[in-house]
Amino acid sequence: MKHKCSFEDYQKSADAIREELGAEFDAAVILGSGLGDFADGLEKMKILKYADIPNFPVSTVSYQKGELVSGVCRGKKILAMNGRFHYYEGWEMWQTAYPVFVMKLLGIKKLIITNAAGGISDRLTPGDLVCVRDHIKLTADSPLRGPNLSQFGVRFFDMQSVYDSSLAALAHKTAKEGGFSLYDGVYAYMGGPQYETPAEIKMLKLLGADVVGMSTVPEVIAAAQCGIRVLCISCVSNMAAGITGAAITEQEVLETGRLIGTRFRSLISGVIEGL
Ligand code: HPA
Repeated sequence: MKHKCSFEDYQKSADAIREELGAEFDAAVILGSGLGDFADGLEKMKILKYADIPNFPVSTVSYQKGELVSGVCRGKKILAMNGRFHYYEGWEMWQTAYPVFVMKLLGIKKLIITNAAGGISDRLTPGDLVCVRDHIKLTADSPLRGPNLSQFGVRFFDMQSVYDSSLAALAHKTAKEGGFSLYDGVYAYMGGPQYETPAEIKMLKLLGADVVGMSTVPEVIAAAQCGIRVLCISCVSNMAAGITGAAITEQEVLETGRLIGTRFRSLISGVIEGL
């Protein structure tokens, strides 16, 4: 079977990024729905459109910018993805994780992944931030399905420590110093684009999920294979289906992201400062 794409394809993407945005980043950040403002606050900002990176997918979500931004945050050099790739857009799962392997080639060792998510746990309300400590993926597909590129890691790899406990501890310390709550939780991955049914949310709750969303997990799996440490922060944009009975809308999801922006930016910047 032919591989989905070759190691050289990833290298070409990485070479183009290195040329335009430099290298030796202290960390990368993937910005979730409604959370893209973080990139605007970077100093010495340089922008590279996904469309100008060879082999890179191009975002189809209308409100996502579809660009890589390099810049400095609290003295640390950061590469930020403003816009990500979702399975529901029609990408294959390996394509949704493509940028993470490119990050590996750029030498990135720490990745902060953010997302908007529905709250399942009774402890949560919209606007809360959750440090994801583990995940549940019910779909059989994987970004690593198909022939393995051994340059990125072994075929069968461990998933127990990809959500890095020292990065999570740093996030909790930052939240405490900032005077706001940060919960720990389990993220359930659903393919979307439809939001879940109340019965699906009941099932996810029984399984131990605290938040639910349509991204992140393929990126985390890629990071686990190639040895990138992950901190994942979910922003609870709405309560999940059946919990309040209110309809869930994309506007609500984006609006909560914007409302929570200041706290979210201070958490991410504080974590970056402490890296
Ligand atoms: N379900 C799935 N994905 C989401 C949700 C949700 O309720 N809110 C934001 N992303």
